[in-house]
Amino acid sequence: MNIVLGITGGIAAYKAPDLVRRLRERGADVQIVMTASAAEFVTETALQAVSGRPIRSNLWDKEAEAAMSHIELARWADVVLIAPATAEVMARIVSGGAPDLLTTICLATEAPIALAPAMNHVMWSNPATQSNREVLEQRGIHILGPAVGSQACGETGAGRMLDPDTIAATVCGLSVGKGEGALVGKTVVITAGPTREAIDPVRYITNRSSGKMGYAVARAAAAQGAGVILVSGPVNLPEPPGIDVHHVTTAAEMYEEAHRHIDKADIFIATAAVADYRPANVPEQKIKKNSENTSIDLVPCPDILASVSTLEDPPFTVGFAAETENVEQYARSKLEKKKLDMIVANQVGHNRGFDRDDNQLSVLWKNGKKEFAEATKIELARDLVELVAERFYAARGADTQPKLTIISTSD
Ligand SMILES: Cc1cc2nc3c(=O)[nH]c(=O)nc-3n(C[C@H](O)[C@H](O)[C@H](O)COP(=O)(O)O)c2cc1C
Repeated sequence: MNIVLGITGGIAAYKAPDLVRRLRERGADVQIVMTASAAEFVTETALQAVSGRPIRSNLWDKEAEAAMSHIELARWADVVLIAPATAEVMARIVSGGAPDLLTTICLATEAPIALAPAMNHVMWSNPATQSNREVLEQRGIHILGPAVGSQACGETGAGRMLDPDTIAATVCGLSVGKGEGALVGKTVVITAGPTREAIDPVRYITNRSSGKMGYAVARAAAAQGAGVILVSGPVNLPEPPGIDVHHVTTAAEMYEEAHRHIDKADIFIATAAVADYRPANVPEQKIKKNSENTSIDLVPCPDILASVSTLEDPPFTVGFAAETENVEQYARSKLEKKKLDMIVANQVGHNRGFDRDDNQLSVLWKNGKKEFAEATKIELARDLVELVAERFYAARGADTQPKLTIISTSD
């Protein structure tokens, strides 16, 4: 995996050599691009020694540019990581400016970009920085951290750079696959996000699912070389590159869309929080307020997961169970009742699970179980997909043929 590591001028730059080592331990090739301010905190000599590559810092370095231009560097990267990321570089990326080598690469790359911000807690909570963070996230840039704790300035708050090992583990799960990985040649269909069930033309029933876990699972499956079809409910997330995304709104639409692709699927992962019920009748006009109590008749929505797992020739089927209590017990009963190959149980509610960047999971199958401790959804998705691949081959045999035959038209 090729990582362009941008280092900017924050005090946490002193941790950069450690971060480079953690990335290289995971097999990454690391090309460092540092800003002029970063050089005030950490030396090129130290970074060159740990990365094993000459450091790039100047957009106008003719020799370096002739060897590998900024555009070639942008293409070479599987991931662009900036750690530490200053408030200043966040603002530069938001503005779309490219006054230096690092921000030029950010504009020119199609690879995922991740930022690990590090700054004084007042700088971090400043509305300007928060608004920049929001814009970056909306554009699909991954914001890793920051962590809360004691800071170099002697104060305590949110703004510490995440520890290098966590950054390395997260970033190594971001790259979209290039023909390598445990799921090369396989097709994975994934559902994600909530569904919306109309009450009338202006109101609907939904739930708190953000889709973050499903989108992370989709990226992780693609990073393992799978062809990924993502059927997404309404979410506020950018489409992951290289993934075939189909947008739906209601449970009925999600059912239809998932079944349109299911005969191609070797693996089906149902992360979506699909509504169990929908209003029985949806009037054409808005329901008017009156002084009486009122009620809505509900009818069940189609059960997408059970409808897939009970097909004549079902894909390897993985369900998710979001529960607020007795998580494992409910999950195991869902595993058996719906004849699933695996189930991923997660506790939701009370600030857990939904619309957060971290989570913890228990994964259950017929005679087994694995716990994943609290981590970012990106890390959890990567570990989960590895386990799904392992269980898939254990259940179906290592030489199982893909359902979708890809016919090359290039020759
Ligand atoms: C001693 C010192 C420490 C600094 N630490 C940080 C920091 O931790 N985070 C940050 O966002 N800016 C910090 N700054 C400010 C940045 O260095 C400054 O905004 C600079 O222009 C960033 O440039 P760059 O993003 O191109 O590296 C610090 C400045 C000084 C003088």
